[in-house]
Amino acid sequence: MNTALAERRGRLVQKFGALQLDSLLVTHPADWYYLTGFTGDSGALVVSRRGTTLITDGRFIGQAKAETTGIAVAQQKGSLFESTGEFLAGSKARSTGFEATQVSVSQYQALRKAAGRGCKWKPVAGPVASLRMQKDARELVAMRRAAILAGRVMEDAIPLLKAGVREFEVAAEIEYQMRKRGASGPAFETIVAFGERAALPHARPTAKRLKKNEFVVLDLGVILAHYCSDITRTFYYGKAPERVRQWYKAVQDAQVAAIAAVKNGVLCGDVDAAARQVLEGQGLGKYFVHSTGHGLGLEVHEDPRIARGQKKRLEAGNVVTIEPGIYIDGVGGIRIEDDVAVHADRIEVLTRISRDLIEI
Ligand code: GLY
Ligand code: MN
Repeated sequence: MNTALAERRGRLVQKFGALQLDSLLVTHPADWYYLTGFTGDSGALVVSRRGTTLITDGRFIGQAKAETTGIAVAQQKGSLFESTGEFLAGSKARSTGFEATQVSVSQYQALRKAAGRGCKWKPVAGPVASLRMQKDARELVAMRRAAILAGRVMEDAIPLLKAGVREFEVAAEIEYQMRKRGASGPAFETIVAFGERAALPHARPTAKRLKKNEFVVLDLGVILAHYCSDITRTFYYGKAPERVRQWYKAVQDAQVAAIAAVKNGVLCGDVDAAARQVLEGQGLGKYFVHSTGHGLGLEVHEDPRIARGQKKRLEAGNVVTIEPGIYIDGVGGIRIEDDVAVHADRIEVLTRISRDLIEI
C-alpha cells in the first residue's frame, strides 16, 4: 500500500464532517492522480469513509490496477456517469459531494437518475485542490527538477533567436527539447512573441519572423514526473532603447518586490499589491493587465491565486509563480516569471536563471 496516497485520502475524508458528506465524487484527472496515482484520463473516483473505488472503462482497468493500491477498481457498464450513479445507489452513501465546476449538466442528470432518490448531491468547491496546495517534500523535489529543466530549456532557446526565425519554429524547438530531456510535454502551449506581439500576454506562436530591435517574450514550462514549471523571460533583439530599459527595470523591481513579500502567512492580495505598487509608482499600472501569479503543481494553474484583494494566506508547502508584466499595444510587452516555494521560515526560488535584461 502506498501510505502517502492513503494519507491524502485520509485527510480528504477528515473534511467530510464539516462538508456534511459521506462520500465525494472526484472527476478531475489531476485530483484522482493526487489521491490514487491513476494516470488514466477517463474515470470517476468515489472516496468514502469506508473506502475508495475507481470506476473506469475496459481500456484502463489493467493500468488502474497496476498504478493504484488500497482502492477498489471497478469496470463501468454503459456510460461512466450512469455506472457511477448505480454504484452510489448500491453503496450506503446518502450525501455525495461533487465539484460544481467539473461536472456538466448532462453528467449530473445521469448521476441523479442512476443513483435514485436515496442519494443527496452536494456541490462542493475544491476540497482536493486545497489539499494539493500543500506540497510535501517529495512533490517539492519534483517541482525543483521541473523548474531547473525549464530554466535550461529557456537558456538553450536564446541561440535560436536569430533574424528571420519564426515564432512557431522557436516554440517547436523548445517543446522538442523539453521532451528530449525527459519531460512528458509542455505544461501549457509555449508562448513565443516577437515585437508588437509581445503586448499579447498569451500570444500563440505564429509565422511572424524576428526582426532587429524587437522584444522577444518566451513563456514556457515542462511537465516532469507529473509536476509543472512555468517561467517567462523577455529579451531584446538588438540594443534596447533607454525607455525599454526603464520599463524592464520597473517590471524587474515589481517582481523583486513581490518575491520579497512572499512568506508563510502573508495575504495573497498583499503579494499582488507589492508588484502593482511598483508599477503604479512608475506610471505603468494600467499596463499590468493580469494578476501577479498563481499556484503551480500537478497543473500549471492551481490555487492559490496571487491576485488583487485575495484574502487567502500563503502557507508552507505552497508553490506559486510571480509574474508581473506590462503590455503596451502597438509597442510590445515585458514579463518576468519565476516559481517560488513557501517554507515555514523562508522562501525558495525554484527557477534559477538570470532575470536581467538580455540583449541579443
Ligand atoms: N505561463 C502561462 C500562464 O501562467 O498563464
Ligand atoms: Mn504563469
